[in-house]
Amino acid sequence: MSKPLRFPKEFVFGTATSSFQIEGDAHHRGRSIWDDFCNIPGAILDNSDGLIACDHVNRYKEDVALMKEMGVDSYRFSISWPRIIPDGSGEVSKEGIAFYRNLLKELNAQGISPMATLYHWDLPSILELKGGWRNRETAYHFRRYAEVCFTELGDLVEKWLTFNEPFCTAILGHLTGEHAPGMKDLAATHKVIHHINLAHGLTMEAFRTGGYNGEIGTTLNLSTPRPATDCPEDILAADRAADRDARVYLDPVIGKGYPKRYLDAYPEAPFPIEEGDMEIIGKHKLDYLGINYYTEYPVTFDKDHPENFKGIATDLPKTHMGWDITPEGLLRLLHWTHKRTEDIQIFITENGSAWDDRLDEQGKINDTDRVSYLESHLAICQRAIEEDIPLTGYYAWSTMDNFEWAWGYARRFGLIYCDFETQKRTPKESFYRYREIVKNSRD
Ligand code: NOJ
Repeated sequence: MSKPLRFPKEFVFGTATSSFQIEGDAHHRGRSIWDDFCNIPGAILDNSDGLIACDHVNRYKEDVALMKEMGVDSYRFSISWPRIIPDGSGEVSKEGIAFYRNLLKELNAQGISPMATLYHWDLPSILELKGGWRNRETAYHFRRYAEVCFTELGDLVEKWLTFNEPFCTAILGHLTGEHAPGMKDLAATHKVIHHINLAHGLTMEAFRTGGYNGEIGTTLNLSTPRPATDCPEDILAADRAADRDARVYLDPVIGKGYPKRYLDAYPEAPFPIEEGDMEIIGKHKLDYLGINYYTEYPVTFDKDHPENFKGIATDLPKTHMGWDITPEGLLRLLHWTHKRTEDIQIFITENGSAWDDRLDEQGKINDTDRVSYLESHLAICQRAIEEDIPLTGYYAWSTMDNFEWAWGYARRFGLIYCDFETQKRTPKESFYRYREIVKNSRD
């Protein structure tokens, strides 16, 4: 590496996971749409499910001890709605609350500050039967679930996030069908976007008026594709792609409403906006914005697309997911976002890469590709801070290998290797490199 990494002394280093991807222990929680989706033949690459996953519910102490060994300041995880309220809207599970209280106490005891995401895709199945996020009621059920979490866990949580990547719930879950609940319907997709935004606003309102502990924001996988060339058509195409991939999620929650150009492109699939909704969604300022960043793609003008753009492939180096490695894209995205969000603090709440990790003869994993991905993206974070972006922290995805959604266990993002047969954890080379960075790179 050329230049050693340097960060301000208060910069937060963490790692991240989510409930369905690691918890397992499925018989002590309600069903979620991901349990249902895993039962559809062919939906998951290796036909796996989340019933056991990393068995984290039974092994959380070992996992927190590993995080302690890694030296991170913070841990971002998600709370499973069906573990707290198994049917989504009824009784609260004491057992579910007890698990998260134990986890949080363990984290706090080890000096690791928790950041809790309220929704990382595991919607209670019973709510899906009633229309899921297509149904406005779900937003109100979500607010109540969030209030239960604030009340029952708030004394132990420092930072909250309402949602993780609503883009994926909307687009992958309802337009391309790659994620639960597996629909392919544009009108449904637009209902989902709006109802998730509404649920965010209702929850912000409840948090701000309820006098709860801590701070709150949301996590978006904003993507602002780059123009394939510098001709004006491509520049416009890239800007329009940013409507779908960034503005419909970001603009409403910072009080700027939906991009009209996007709404106008799809008169046949309107957003179900009711009077007063946009005020609810945009009224309360975020304490911080979480950004998940993995890659950036180029777009070009396409006269046949309703918004006149299409993504194109490149010959850049790729991760095991097939995603381009584009650290400079993170810098572009941070500048684009900061221009819109002004003084709002930004966290990178996820960044990482999948590789086909194998244990070597000594039982080690020398994941040099992951190490260089990590270093190159952290170098961009450093540069962003030098260029006055209010970037407060960075969470590596992921603490450990886990259930990678439609890819099952066939893609590994962890800094810790997980043997899914034995549940043995093995820190990878990237774990040790991250530990070194966390320990030595702050002023
Ligand atoms: C973002 C999602 O939040 C996370 O759940 C997923 O595993 C990573 N991307 C990698 O695909």
